[in-house]
Amino acid sequence: MSLKIAPAKGKLGILIPGIGAVSTTFMAGVEAVRKGLGEPVGSLTQLGTVRLGKRTDNRVPRIQDFVPLAKLDQLCFGGWDIFEDDAYEAASNAKVLEPALLEKVKPSLRKVKPMKAVFDRKYVKRIDGPNVKKKGSLADKAEALMDDMAEFKKANKADRLVMIWCGSTEVFHKPAKVHQSLEAFEKGLAKDDPDIAPSQVYAYAALKAGVPFANGAPNLTHDIPALLGLAREREVPVCGKDFKTGQTFMKTLLAPGLKARMLGCSGWFSTNILGNRDGEVLDDPGSFKTKEETKLSVLDQILQPNLYPQLYKDLFHSVRINYYPPRGDQKEGWDNIDIFGWLGYPMQIKIDFLCRDSILAAPIVLDLVLFLDLAQRAGMKGIQEWLSFYFKAPMTAPGLYPEHDIFIQLMKLKNTLRWMRGEDLITHLGLEYYD
Ligand SMILES: NC(=O)c1ccc[n+]([C@@H]2O[C@H](COP(=O)([O-])OP(=O)(O)OC[C@H]3O[C@@H](n4cnc5c(N)ncnc54)[C@H](O)[C@@H]3O)[C@@H](O)[C@H]2O)c1
Repeated sequence: MSLKIAPAKGKLGILIPGIGAVSTTFMAGVEAVRKGLGEPVGSLTQLGTVRLGKRTDNRVPRIQDFVPLAKLDQLCFGGWDIFEDDAYEAASNAKVLEPALLEKVKPSLRKVKPMKAVFDRKYVKRIDGPNVKKKGSLADKAEALMDDMAEFKKANKADRLVMIWCGSTEVFHKPAKVHQSLEAFEKGLAKDDPDIAPSQVYAYAALKAGVPFANGAPNLTHDIPALLGLAREREVPVCGKDFKTGQTFMKTLLAPGLKARMLGCSGWFSTNILGNRDGEVLDDPGSFKTKEETKLSVLDQILQPNLYPQLYKDLFHSVRINYYPPRGDQKEGWDNIDIFGWLGYPMQIKIDFLCRDSILAAPIVLDLVLFLDLAQRAGMKGIQEWLSFYFKAPMTAPGLYPEHDIFIQLMKLKNTLRWMRGEDLITHLGLEYYD
């Protein structure tokens, strides 16, 4: 039995709080691909395939032919930022893509003029800007965001919307009383409760309006009972948190391999230099703490020191990010990994990853918005754990530990697609080939 999935007809509006390096690289990239100026490298929805049935069946459709996803030419973009720069200016400032390429996609980027943001400097300390909603309580601001969304939908003749947070990382923030129920949250909005972060106002507005929501940053945002309850009540799919790019992506490739071979690990020291606005925001200890939490949790979950104390109980794991303007978006991340083998003999692995953060993040944004829209049309609601593949800190049902191993995550994603279409799940048992 396959799921009933509504067709992907009409336009899909992508609404993004945060018109910065990641979101403009995503929008410019989609336009460049549409114009045949580049390939959507890194995107599973555009390039990936899914094997169906037995290995001898030779059924390997492209994912985009297997499930009904919106096509790139059906997408339109909008968003909010505290700065007034349109997406072309923001992309030029971010200096991720070459000016010559940006010139070619300029008309479509120019059209994305940020709407006024909901912002509070208490939550992002290193930046401030003029393009913000000033009037009223947080409840009024949530209403204003819903009006923005409705106007965008009308102006762009969009059929459906998806929202994805690509705004700066907010300071570390624990769930409080106001986050525990929708009733408490709505009362908190009305009286400007200081425990409600701006990203939570966006998430609330999206969910209230029935719009799927993803969080690309490590902020708490919608990972609270009030908003997860709202997502289920409104039958809206959600996912998060923190795009898995760069160093953490490397960790989730390597650590499962070490564990698979029962090799020990006594230390993993990771350091980065980064010079874009994200790096500047993360230079603030409050914002860094939010990031550090998601970056640190990965190894513990993959290596399971409770199950393998001889191998991992003494693991020393440390992550540093240093703001270093000369590098801009071209981050450099070093890892020193102290491992040990047979009889405890030590070895070392060094990684020097000269990566481009937003180049790695842009295809993730694309896949997430397309898959969330698919999930919505398939009637899937609440946390979409099958999208863990894209996140450093995947959201899960309460009490469930997240799965960080990227290959298990990929299998889960593809099996979910097979399940949606009523195809057999792939277990990799394969005994039938030897009968
Ligand atoms: N690039 C990556 O590989 C990567 C990976 C994981 C997570 N992230 C996260 O994605 C987010 C975006 O990264 P980036 O490199 O594009 O950063 P950026 O600084 O270039 O862009 C963020 C934008 O958000 C805006 N902003 C901040 N608060 C806002 C608010 N309340 N409403 C609307 N706009 C707001 C800022 O003005 C800025 O323009 C960051 O939180 C970052 O930590 C990025």
